[in-house]
Amino acid sequence: MRATHLCFIVAALLLSLLRVRASTLELVKGFAATPDSSISSFQSFLVDPNGNFSFGFLRIQQSQLALAVLHVASSEPVWVANTSTTHWDDSTTLIFNGSVILSNSKTGTHWSTRSEGNRIVLRNNSNLQIQKFEEGDTGPSIPWQSFDFPSNTLIENQNFTVNMSLVNGAFSMKLGGNFIGLYTNFINQNHIYWKHTAMEAKASIIQGEGPIYARISQNGFLGTYQNEKAPVDVLPFNTFQRPISGLSLVRLESDGNLKSYYWNGSAWILDFTAITEDCELPNFCGQFAVCTPGNGCQCLNNRTEYHRPGDCTRHESQQGSTKSCTGYSIIRKTGVELPYKELMEFEKMGSLSECESDCERNCSCRGAVYNNGSGYCYRLDYEIGTLVGVGDEEKIGYFKMVRGEEGEEGVGFCCWGGVGCGGGVVGIGMAVFGVWRLWRRRREKMVMGNDGGCIGAYRDLGSASFRSIEMCKS
Ligand SMILES: *[C@@H]1O[C@H](CO)[C@@H](O)[C@H](O)[C@H]1NC(C)=O
Ligand SMILES: *[C@@H]1O[C@H](CO)[C@@H](O)[C@H](O)[C@H]1NC(C)=O
Ligand SMILES: *[C@@H]1O[C@H](CO)[C@@H](O)[C@H](O)[C@H]1NC(C)=O
Ligand SMILES: *[C@@H]1O[C@H](CO)[C@@H](O)[C@H](O)[C@H]1NC(C)=O
Ligand SMILES: *[C@@H]1O[C@H](CO)[C@@H](O)[C@H](O)[C@H]1NC(C)=O
Ligand SMILES: *[C@@H]1O[C@H](CO)[C@@H](O)[C@H](O)[C@H]1NC(C)=O
Ligand SMILES: *[C@@H]1O[C@H](CO)[C@@H](O)[C@H](O)[C@H]1NC(C)=O
Ligand SMILES: *[C@@H]1O[C@H](CO)[C@@H](O)[C@H](O)[C@H]1NC(C)=O
Ligand SMILES: *[C@@H]1O[C@H](CO)[C@@H](O)[C@H](O)[C@H]1NC(C)=O
Ligand SMILES: *[C@@H]1O[C@H](CO)[C@@H](O)[C@H](O)[C@H]1NC(C)=O
Repeated sequence: MRATHLCFIVAALLLSLLRVRASTLELVKGFAATPDSSISSFQSFLVDPNGNFSFGFLRIQQSQLALAVLHVASSEPVWVANTSTTHWDDSTTLIFNGSVILSNSKTGTHWSTRSEGNRIVLRNNSNLQIQKFEEGDTGPSIPWQSFDFPSNTLIENQNFTVNMSLVNGAFSMKLGGNFIGLYTNFINQNHIYWKHTAMEAKASIIQGEGPIYARISQNGFLGTYQNEKAPVDVLPFNTFQRPISGLSLVRLESDGNLKSYYWNGSAWILDFTAITEDCELPNFCGQFAVCTPGNGCQCLNNRTEYHRPGDCTRHESQQGSTKSCTGYSIIRKTGVELPYKELMEFEKMGSLSECESDCERNCSCRGAVYNNGSGYCYRLDYEIGTLVGVGDEEKIGYFKMVRGEEGEEGVGFCCWGGVGCGGGVVGIGMAVFGVWRLWRRRREKMVMGNDGGCIGAYRDLGSASFRSIEMCKS
């Protein structure tokens, strides 16, 4: 009870602070700001007319800065600009001269809306808009709006179109011709790991009538539409057909899951989970690991003890190994299968040895899983992530592992997604969500990568359990 009270007081204080500091409803040309060193959490520039959302500098891990729109009551970012790493010091400046530009006196421009506008407003649905007025116009035109550039969150009334993606680390959500897909971004390759195809019960998708788009409905579902007449698909949440007054959002989590939440006035309530079994997540235990439902994570090799994602790669480096045909050792494991195998291609083969030798001959093949019952041979053209442990001894895995030099610890997991490593851009932007929450809850432990190149922080909105997964910052 005490803790709850304290929370309320702190929340109220924060709220009033934000209100005092930022009563501004619009920013006009000439606006400029630098991070205020006395602010430890969020420096607000702009609020929406209801004071529910605020736009400003979000401080991350003391020294870094993100440009974000927060849901004020929960301090939860609902949008974060896709910027490269920026520091919370006076070398960083935000200006508005028609474009919103985040720059650094030492490193140059980090982000720009590349627009020509007259003012910036934050709409009551959290949409940050740059508006432009011209003589004779009845209303402003919108050269740029944050709704067109979602980060990892889709909020109520925001249209999610074929041009957009939700991104979190090495995972993304995109629309296909008639489905919603979740993808891993491997080096040069995208693999779908979750697919929801439109049911077309109320309306059919008509070729040539334009692409589909998705939007959260207040009636508790993620609707997919081709036009406004009727949805072509309804993906129901728990609150389906039980209208709730609070804000709803859909978020791509850092573990690759897609979840929906609604705000009940004091907490985010989980309303939908796309992948309900953790082991079915694309990389739940990190690389070279086996996830067994009810029994957690183990490393593929029997030597390494598993504590957290990335552990199993400690002695297995795959740097430059993707093309390597020699210098690897083979690990075989029975009772494993691929997560999301329904979405993987396979070839029917007569025997395990046929499946294995087919992979062995091919440099691009990094492993294969054979089902001795069905004869299906699944070949992997990427470094394996987490496998699912099953009781069925007929399912046999064959994996190529490149021996790594000691001291290259932890590299594997970070590079796994390809995105995280090279493009710190996405890394930091997307890390923000997890980190910010953690940062606020110091009693929860922050997991730092041993090489300083990885930060591990992950916490589900609304859930009490804390899990850590590694992400990269530049
Ligand atoms: C963020 O920016 C990078 C580089 O500019 C780009 O490759 C990436 O697709 C962007 N991510 C999103 C979610 O727009
Ligand atoms: C705004 O500032 C940027 C960076 O200083 C500059 O490149 C751009 O031309 C300016 N835009 C206008 C409309 O002045
Ligand atoms: C939000 O703004 C729109 C118009 O911009 C208005 O019609 C609507 O009533 C507002 N909603 C709330 C809850 O203030
Ligand atoms: C979403 O798309 C529909 C149909 O194109 C449009 O009527 C509506 O205004 C859009 N909403 C937003 C917030 O852009
Ligand atoms: C978005 O996608 C549509 C349909 O594919 C295309 O016509 C349009 O040019 C795209 N818009 C942008 C901004 O890329
Ligand atoms: C926005 O604020 C109003 C009161 O100012 C409140 O009734 C409403 O629930 C809030 N909406 C959100 C999404 O927080
Ligand atoms: C919102 O949810 C939290 C957590 O489940 C609960 O403690 C609280 O009573 C709920 N608030 C309302 C207004 O329902
Ligand atoms: C791991 O241990 C099991 C049983 O103890 C054994 O069958 C398997 O071959 C071992 N795997 C490796 C990679 O050493
Ligand atoms: C080698 O494996 C890759 C990935 O599985 C596949 O795309 C390619 O066709 C294979 N090449 C041959 C010659 O089998
Ligand atoms: C695979 O199935 C065949 C019969 O279909 C059986 O002879 C063989 O022992 C099985 N191999 C394994 C590894 O289970």
